[in-house]
Amino acid sequence: MAQTLAEIIRAEIRARGGWLSFDRFMELALYAPGLGYYERQEPFGEAGDFITAPMLGDLFARALADTIEAAWRALGAPRDWLLVEQGGGEGALLAQVLALLDGLAPPSVYAVEKSARLRSRQQARFGEAVRVVAAPEEVPAHDAVVWFSNELVDAFPVRVLEKRQGKLRARGVVERGEGFGWALGDDVAPPQTAKAQADAWPEGYLAEERAREVEIWRAQLAQAIRRGIVITVDYGYLASELYRPTRAGGTLAAHRGHVRTDDVLTEPGAQDITAHVDFTQLALAAEQAGFAPQLFTSQGAWIAHAPRVQARLAEAAAGADAKMLAAARRLVMPHGMGETFKVLVDARGVDVRLPWLAARVDRTARLKEELAALEARA
Ligand SMILES: C[S@@+](CC[C@H](N)C(=O)[O-])C[C@H]1O[C@@H](n2cnc3c(N)ncnc32)[C@H](O)[C@@H]1O
Repeated sequence: MAQTLAEIIRAEIRARGGWLSFDRFMELALYAPGLGYYERQEPFGEAGDFITAPMLGDLFARALADTIEAAWRALGAPRDWLLVEQGGGEGALLAQVLALLDGLAPPSVYAVEKSARLRSRQQARFGEAVRVVAAPEEVPAHDAVVWFSNELVDAFPVRVLEKRQGKLRARGVVERGEGFGWALGDDVAPPQTAKAQADAWPEGYLAEERAREVEIWRAQLAQAIRRGIVITVDYGYLASELYRPTRAGGTLAAHRGHVRTDDVLTEPGAQDITAHVDFTQLALAAEQAGFAPQLFTSQGAWIAHAPRVQARLAEAAAGADAKMLAAARRLVMPHGMGETFKVLVDARGVDVRLPWLAARVDRTARLKEELAALEARA
């Protein structure tokens, strides 16, 4: 009989002497071929486990289309350019973006999706119009690329750290009865972006980090993007906020049936596991790979200011389109997705500006200050 995912994880724990680093547990729980969460569950929408922005109408796609268009113009409005979405799930956002770009749609569109099940969904949806591939290495290098993702990086595996008796220890997974439990492993160093704060963390402080995964990812993008722009939207914070001493419980969470829980070890493969993104670390990894930050702001500000969104909101207000206005509130307001979600735009070989974005909502200067402080410490 075929092994279950829990059996595979148990075997791996034993093979490694009884303790498995959490990032490996998360990798298996989400992506084990045929068994991981993204390989077998229907995560998206009301009937699934969580709602993402493209399920709330096309306002998010409109802000993205405006940003992609600005990026394309900054690249010199080339005829031959490449548009890439990574981690598109079922491809809902890419479909909306392609419809909105219409006249300036690029000749080559790629979708990079790790889950084989979701790749076949996307291939069926797009047919010949989009090349659906498993990894960034399969995207040919190009001189004019716009690469975007929504809620990709939060799904990269994380290592979990816990402060005990003044030291940071790696948190890992052990067998416990029929299920799994936590156990502390070796001493570890604080994340590079948290060094200034880690001394002030109280006993029991939990933190997550995924520096290695993000560095590998950005090095992969550097191979494909000789010149181009990367747009990354996800929930997360600058390191100064993510790792502040009062955020003692970390951000690691599981999602199932629209309920968020801290119990990430139960029923691997049956629930999503995620942790917030450290945008300082993401920008640092981007810089190390040759990309410069162009814009950092909240999702709310990014959507609310976008010209295609403004046009749609004016129409909706005139027609009293209550559903659309409710979606706008959820996407834009600080208590919805507006503040926790951030947008980072970075670029290589080109500079891009979004002229419609008010200077007061632009947080790029704060991001650059954090990067400069890290460089000064190094
Ligand atoms: C939280 S879902 C977001 C889906 C979609 N972007 C949306 O907004 O609805 C994360 C997606 O990223 C994919 N993914 C995770 N790691 C990936 C990687 N390294 N490369 C490509 N796709 C990845 C997952 O399989 C899943 O489809």
